[in-house]
Amino acid sequence: FDDFDVKNEPVLGYRAGSSERAELQSELERTAAVTEEVPIVIGDQNIKEGEPQYQVMPHDHGRKLAKYYYAGEKTIQKAIQVSVEAQRRWDRTPLEERVRVWHRAADLMAGEHRQRLNAATMLGQSKTAVQAEIDSAAELIDFIRFNVFFLKENAKYQPISEEPAVTRNSLRFRGLDGFIAAISPFNFTAIGGNLAYTPALMGNGVLWKPSDTALLSNWRIFNIMREAGVPAGVVNFVPADGPTFGRTITSSPFLAGVNFTGSVPTFNWLWNEVGKNLSRYRNYPRLIGECGGKNYHFVHPSADVQTVVTSTIRSAFEYCGQKCSACSRMYIPRSLYEPIKQGLLEERSKLKIGDPTDFKVFTGAVIDDKAFTRITTYIKNAKNNPKNKILGGGEFDGSKGYFVQPTIIETADPHDKLMIEEIFGPVLTIYVYGDKDLSKALDLVGTSTKFALTGAVYASDRKFLDTALEELKMTAGNFYINDKSTGSVVGQQPFGGGRMSGTNDKAGGPNYVMRWTTPQSIKETF
Ligand code: ALA
Repeated sequence: FDDFDVKNEPVLGYRAGSSERAELQSELERTAAVTEEVPIVIGDQNIKEGEPQYQVMPHDHGRKLAKYYYAGEKTIQKAIQVSVEAQRRWDRTPLEERVRVWHRAADLMAGEHRQRLNAATMLGQSKTAVQAEIDSAAELIDFIRFNVFFLKENAKYQPISEEPAVTRNSLRFRGLDGFIAAISPFNFTAIGGNLAYTPALMGNGVLWKPSDTALLSNWRIFNIMREAGVPAGVVNFVPADGPTFGRTITSSPFLAGVNFTGSVPTFNWLWNEVGKNLSRYRNYPRLIGECGGKNYHFVHPSADVQTVVTSTIRSAFEYCGQKCSACSRMYIPRSLYEPIKQGLLEERSKLKIGDPTDFKVFTGAVIDDKAFTRITTYIKNAKNNPKNKILGGGEFDGSKGYFVQPTIIETADPHDKLMIEEIFGPVLTIYVYGDKDLSKALDLVGTSTKFALTGAVYASDRKFLDTALEELKMTAGNFYINDKSTGSVVGQQPFGGGRMSGTNDKAGGPNYVMRWTTPQSIKETF
């Protein structure tokens, strides 16, 4: 490999009058003007079968953004066969060639296709320009570039050969013997790209089941990767009904791995199906999952109030609280409660909710009717529970778009559902603890939920921070001190959680690529 520096892709600002804003606006117009038809793609074949499905714009759900199809069982079987065949050829393609394809893809994403990806993410997943840019531009490009860098770094290690003239030891990376099912979420376009294409980079064949509500942006990634040179059949684009897809892949003898981001119940179901089918497989399938959180901001009496307020508003309400890392529970000492509450309420009242393509808007709509119903049910129940008090927000209107106002609730019960269940929406719940009960409050962070994805502590007291680092060690895969729980950057804060938040394989870190190879040791004697 040639040496190269790897750097995070700069995030564009989209200021009024900037060329990137003008380009984005014309791309938004082009994308919104048509309902793009998206086929299932298996090898070099485009397939349209069954009842058409539609991806709508969450902020204006009468408008159809994409028309697509669900692959039935037979088509999924066909995709498995094609990907297994393609994998055998692809795995023989030298790493250098694969790496060249990935570089080309990153350059296309950073250049001529950047605004196409952002427009699809904004209209289909209801992200503002800034939120789209950090996702479908920066983070996606970073995944592509950094995974190549990590692959290169990992490949530097070669085993010791004590007498190289007599025997030589080496280690080579092979793709897994079968196919990988990549099942990706709606909330980050970049995660879709990472789940499907990191296994591919490492020599695997992939069935990519994109989220129904991220279809167009994911389709655009698929096309860019083809344009960059990923051969037909290596990654197959297979939108499908979840249970049909899950049953078909887990009953195939060729299943070699599942790369999943989504809910705990779905990952548990997949894991159980794999267990039941174990005797059919020729591999132990690798199960990599990132599945949710109940992320916290914990405030110590020595914290800086303004920092707490600004970062909590951003973490809890950017992208409607639909980042897997979003803060949704907060612990505040009584001594700081009034200033923090006032600050949060004041900042909250300034947030503008609406059409995400309007540059004055802070956040768009929640993703779909299911999310809207789930989130608003939590809010309605909170209104009826005397232990809970809505401090701000609590309104919603789903008639044109799925709009939920950022909502702040105070609860008297640290075990209330609002404090322990994942809501995945713009709902922040606060529990106020007595300053003398600091250690009891710290204890609640780790014992009240099964999740351990992200968390943040706010304090200037170094002794307390040392205690928190110990006491909260297992409560978050991504832990922040005096900063918000969201916004991890590839190569800077590798992302993932433990406990019921997932297998913590750290997307955007050096070990992730290694999960998608089955290395072989070779001893050659001369
Ligand atoms: N990078 C995303 C975040 O940390 C997942 O918010």
